Amino acid sequence: MLNIVIFGAPGSGKGTQSDFIVKKYGLVHLSTGDILRAEIAKGSEIGKMADSLISKGNFIPDDLMINILNANIDLYPTAKGFIFDGFPRTLTQAEALDSMLKKRNIKISLMLNIDVQTNELVKRLLERGKTSGRSDDNLQTIHQRLQVYEAKTLPVIQFYDRQGKSNRINGTGTMEEVFAEICKAIDSVK
Ligand code: AP5
Ligand code: MG
Repeated sequence: MLNIVIFGAPGSGKGTQSDFIVKKYGLVHLSTGDILRAEIAKGSEIGKMADSLISKGNFIPDDLMINILNANIDLYPTAKGFIFDGFPRTLTQAEALDSMLKKRNIKISLMLNIDVQTNELVKRLLERGKTSGRSDDNLQTIHQRLQVYEAKTLPVIQFYDRQGKSNRINGTGTMEEVFAEICKAIDSVK
């Protein structure tokens, strides 16, 4: 089984590259941001709670997020593997993911750390905000998302470094160039 954590700051290209990976490697894409936005669209209790946190650029509490991810893994019992996009975002989530997978006798094969400079991230998200309809694609929320990323999510890189699984990917080329680098990293562990 091939299980990938796709990691990077807001706007680094996690969703874009996940789509390419799904097409080539046939994995199941679990994006916690997409799952939460679907809950908001449904108007569920989780959605109501997530709505204001997301639009302000803050995180959903770890325990809730961990339960949501756990339930979503169970929806795909025959998956060839997963791409985890937007999870883990904290050290607590990283530890929880390892134990969730251990219970199922599977593990993370590699982590892709898509690296893009802050000014480029802001530019991409503002551009996307013109048409995305996402409540978090505005300048004030983008700044908060980047701050929360630095404070809570960056330490997750060391978590995967310690396991020898993290791969830095230069995220500033064209989408195809970034994908070529990602394929090299994936193929080296397959
Ligand atoms: P989430 O949906 O995960 O958002 P994010 O991490 O902020 O990242 P984005 O989806 O904005 O960017 P991306 O890296 O996917 O880039 P994309 O491919 O779209 O989370 C949203 C919120 O949900 C969080 O803030 C939090 O509130 C909550 N949440 C989610 N998970 C959580 C968790 N685990 N715990 C707690 N809370 C959680 O690309 C961006 C743009 O750039 C696009 O327009 C794209 O076309 C363009 N682009 C992509 N690649 C390139 C390239 N190579 N060159 C030029 N442009 C490019
Ligand atoms: Mg995304």
